[in-house]
Amino acid sequence: MIKKNFLVFFGPPGSGKGTQVEKVSQKFKLPIISTGNLLRHEQEEGTPFGKKLSSILNRGELVPDIIINKIVAENLEKISNIKGAIFDGFPRNEKQQKFLLRTLKKVYKDNFNIYAVLINLSEKIILERLTGRRVCECGETYHLLYNPPRNKNICLKCDKKLFIREDDKPVIVKNRIKIYQREIVPILKFWENKSSLIIINGKKKISEINRNIFRELKKINF
Ligand code: AP5
Repeated sequence: MIKKNFLVFFGPPGSGKGTQVEKVSQKFKLPIISTGNLLRHEQEEGTPFGKKLSSILNRGELVPDIIINKIVAENLEKISNIKGAIFDGFPRNEKQQKFLLRTLKKVYKDNFNIYAVLINLSEKIILERLTGRRVCECGETYHLLYNPPRNKNICLKCDKKLFIREDDKPVIVKNRIKIYQREIVPILKFWENKSSLIIINGKKKISEINRNIFRELKKINF
């Protein structure tokens, strides 16, 4: 039986996880499970649940583990026939990490590989990245300077109007960085200890970071 391949992307807000995950997904033909995108999708639906989520997302706080783990489990079930997946924005704390590893083990026994990619970036650059970010509800992400859409306000992929994420306001970004330091940085140790952590400098150009990720993945025969 061919082993399933899973990748987990870590990095502070705005470090370029979403941007890189798209490219890795295309190259390796692996689906993406992005908890941020899935939650924003629920939010856009305008359901009572979506409205409840809005107040959490717009403050940059973490959505409760029980909700996140349920969403991830549902999405993992949908992809159980394929060769693996890429996680973006999940796990975000120790409980979620344990849930992920337990779930994969239950479904695939020892028949899977899992590695983590950490994209590092300083706080100063994070703020610059997020103030210039424009997003589309289809999931595409742009930057006014570094990855501009042809027309300032329109998505290249689906022609819809681009918008600024509510949680990209500087005061909210600062809170998200604080949460990243408190919740995610401690769980990186686990990946370091099992020599499964690929560390990438997020300050470089999008294309260079992409090449660096592919090169590191090749080294481990991913
Ligand atoms: P989520 O959507 O996961 O947000 P995040 O982790 O803060 O990351 P971002 O999406 O802000 O940034 P990114 O690293 O993907 O950067 P991007 O590629 O867009 O989560 C949002 C919220 O949902 C959370 O705050 C929380 O409330 C909730 N949530 C999600 N998952 C959860 C979980 N597991 N548990 C609990 N709650 C959860 O790039 C940023 C910008 O820079 C773009 O404009 C891009 O074009 C540009 N750019 C990218 N790379 C480069 C480069 N190399 N050079 C120049 N510009 C670049």
